[in-house]
Amino acid sequence: MLTELLCVLLCACVLLALRMRASRAHAHKPPPAYKRSLPIIGITHLVMADNSIVTDPEDALTIANTCIEKPHFYKFGEFALGQGLVTSSGSKWKRHRKLLNPAFTSSIIHGFLETFNRQAEKLTTELAEFAGKGPFEATWYIHNISLQTSCLNTFGTTIFHDEEFFKQFLKTVEQAMNVVVQRFINVWQHSDLLYKLSGLKKKQDELANTLTEMTNRVIQNTAAALKEQHNYRNIVEHKTGAASFLEIMLPLRDNNSLSDQEFKEELDTTVVASFETTAQLFEAILILIGSHPKVQERLYEEIIDIVGQERDVDKEDLRKLVYTEAVINECLRFQPTVPILPRCVSQDVKLKNYTICAGSQCGILANGFHRDPVWGPDADQFRPERWLEPDTLPNIATAFIGFSLGKRSCIGKIYAMTSLKVSLVHLVRKYHVMGDHNKLQFTLDVTLKPVKGHEISLQRRTQDLPSEK
Ligand code: HEM
Repeated sequence: MLTELLCVLLCACVLLALRMRASRAHAHKPPPAYKRSLPIIGITHLVMADNSIVTDPEDALTIANTCIEKPHFYKFGEFALGQGLVTSSGSKWKRHRKLLNPAFTSSIIHGFLETFNRQAEKLTTELAEFAGKGPFEATWYIHNISLQTSCLNTFGTTIFHDEEFFKQFLKTVEQAMNVVVQRFINVWQHSDLLYKLSGLKKKQDELANTLTEMTNRVIQNTAAALKEQHNYRNIVEHKTGAASFLEIMLPLRDNNSLSDQEFKEELDTTVVASFETTAQLFEAILILIGSHPKVQERLYEEIIDIVGQERDVDKEDLRKLVYTEAVINECLRFQPTVPILPRCVSQDVKLKNYTICAGSQCGILANGFHRDPVWGPDADQFRPERWLEPDTLPNIATAFIGFSLGKRSCIGKIYAMTSLKVSLVHLVRKYHVMGDHNKLQFTLDVTLKPVKGHEISLQRRTQDLPSEK
């Protein structure tokens, strides 16, 4: 009896929802549903977001600037990130973004060059054991170095002083990311009630406690050490030196612009938002240049011409590495790291031909943008040279959304570009890279992750072999 009653109630709710939707749709012309959309569940089975997929550049910019709220599943990351820039919304997001923007400018990021160079050198050395030995998976090495680099740049070298502590921190961050992904892909765990009953929630709580305790310890230790040295740096005055984000943002906590909790959340967010995206793109770059030998040779020539065989990358080099930048941009266009930008629509948004109703969700689809005919007849080809021909490029502010677009675009773009350039210089001048991007298969979790066909091979460049010198 109860089951029957529930069925009737459920049917009534569904019919009511469909009627409300139909009457709203009558008043405004909604965008067409994605072609693999199913009745009622939309494209939940494909991307776990319902409703519309937007691929028109001007419409997407309108949405990106009008809708700054993120969908509910971003909350799955809150146990680890709190309400940092990625997960927060409304006035809190606006205030924090304004406060943090100055910490991500090139003058600050150049202060991390020493760390970027040492870490890139470390990765190049770690991969030496695979050179000349055929295909292997570089994923773990790249991700591990990227996470270390993010921790070093965010918390400073004090986090390295206790090796065990550092190892545990890396492990906890990785496990926390896995929990977020597990909850995201198991749709039944989207319900708070059902999630609370799951073993994953128990694990989440343990990880949240460990992360909080560890981050707080690093903050306290660093703040105490800095106070002792009377060595506060001003976020704006800071010009040189290897300060960490912690050190640079500390005055925001001390002048009460950020509470202790908010300060911690923004630091954790910086680590998580930076390490996986950068690692993922670096791996994609290696596979793509490994599949395009001519591109790799031109890249190698530029690297040798500008930086040479041994020297570290300095800030002058960064400006001159134009082909390297073109390769990075083209990889991000060709294979976007973050394939969908989901948004909540909190007010009716009028697009060129449609209106998206308040209360719906929509996804801005990177592949739709990056393969649009505005890129020319070769939009489907991997061709970094296009970035060196400004007259043929579409409007990059709306056509290229690898770092998102509009108000909530990536705050770490300069960090990412700097880190990737330095890593490429160190690796490509030592090794020929071989790969085959046609074999790639992906899975979608927080980012677009390769699950098959991502092996690469490395061959030492001949001038590096002692016998051939
Ligand atoms: C290749 C590397 C990277 C890529 C492809 C990338 C891409 C993106 C994208 C697409 C978004 C928008 C996400 C959304 O709307 O849901 C975003 C946001 C963000 N990214 Fe990145 N990112 C990268 C590296 C970084 C780095 C290195 C940092 C920090 C050092 C960072 C920090 C952030 C933050 C804090 C946000 C949220 C910004 C806001 O909402 O105000 N990212 N990123």
